[in-house]
Amino acid sequence: MSSQTAASADRTDRVFLITGASSGIGAATARRAYADRWRVVLAARSHERLDALAEELGGSERALAVRCDVTEWEDQQRMVDAALSAFGQIDAAFANAGFGGPRGFLKDTPEHWREMVLTNVYGAALTLRATIPALTDSRGHLLLTSSVAGRRALPGSMYSCTKHAVTAMGEAARQDLNGSGVRVTLIEPGMTDTPFFENRPTGALQDDDIARAVMYAVSQPPHVDVNEILVRPTSQLG
Ligand SMILES: NC(=O)c1ccc[n+]([C@@H]2O[C@H](COP(=O)([O-])OP(=O)(O)OC[C@H]3O[C@@H](n4cnc5c(N)ncnc54)[C@H](OP(=O)(O)O)[C@@H]3O)[C@@H](O)[C@H]2O)c1
Repeated sequence: MSSQTAASADRTDRVFLITGASSGIGAATARRAYADRWRVVLAARSHERLDALAEELGGSERALAVRCDVTEWEDQQRMVDAALSAFGQIDAAFANAGFGGPRGFLKDTPEHWREMVLTNVYGAALTLRATIPALTDSRGHLLLTSSVAGRRALPGSMYSCTKHAVTAMGEAARQDLNGSGVRVTLIEPGMTDTPFFENRPTGALQDDDIARAVMYAVSQPPHVDVNEILVRPTSQLG
C-alpha cells in the first residue's frame, strides 16, 4: 500500500463521538463529520432520532447510536464502551449536550436549574472523564460546547453561569492534558436556530454554521490546537 493510500485509510477510520447528537448542532456536526469520512458515535436520550440519523450516516459500518443521559455516569461509561467495542478507538469527543432556561433568577424553578446544571456542567465533565483515556490513546481531540453566554454574563441567566463553567472546564482540561497530545477546543456559538429555542429566532446562525467551525478545529495538523471558536451571527450585538 502506498503511503498516500495508508494515510487516506487512516482518515476514513477516525471516530467522532458526539453528545447531544439527536438534534441541532450535534446532529449537524455528525453530518459534517460523516461527509468528511469520519465514523460517528451519536449519543443522546432520544433513541429513535439517533437510530434514524445513524441509518442516514451509513448504518452500522459507519455510525453507532447510543442512548445516553449525560447526567448518568453509568450511561457515559456504556457510551464509551460501546464506541470502543464497535470501532476500536475514539479520535474526537464533542461534549455538546445541553439546554437553556428563562432569564431572571426568580423566573425558573429550582428543579429546572438542577437539571440544567447537571446536564450542562456535570454532564460535560462526565463526558470528559469518560473519553479522556481513549483520547489519550489516540492523541485525539476534545471539544466542548460553551456559548457566547459562557464568555459574558447575561442578566439573570443561570444558563450563562453553566456555560461560564464549561468555558473554565475547557481551559482546565487543556492545561490538564498538556503534553498528552490531546487537543482541546471550546465552541462558543452565538444565537443558532435550533430546537434549543421554543420560539425559533430569526437572523440567527444555522446549526451547520457551527458544525463547520467544529470541523475547522478538528482538521488542523497535529501541532495546531484551536482553543476557542466564538461565532456570532453578523447581526448579534451582545
Ligand atoms: N442554539 C443556540 O443558540 C446555542 C448557542 C450557544 C450554545 N448552545 C449550546 O449548543 C449545544 C447544543 O444545543 P442546540 O442548540 O443544538 O440545541 P438542541 O437542538 O435542543 O440540542 C440539544 C441536544 O442536547 C441533548 N440533551 C439534552 N439533555 C441531555 C441529556 N441529559 N443527556 C443527553 N443528551 C441531552 C438533546 O438530546 P435528547 O433530548 O435526545 O437527549 C439534543 O440532542 C447545547 O450545549 C447548547 O447549550 C446553543
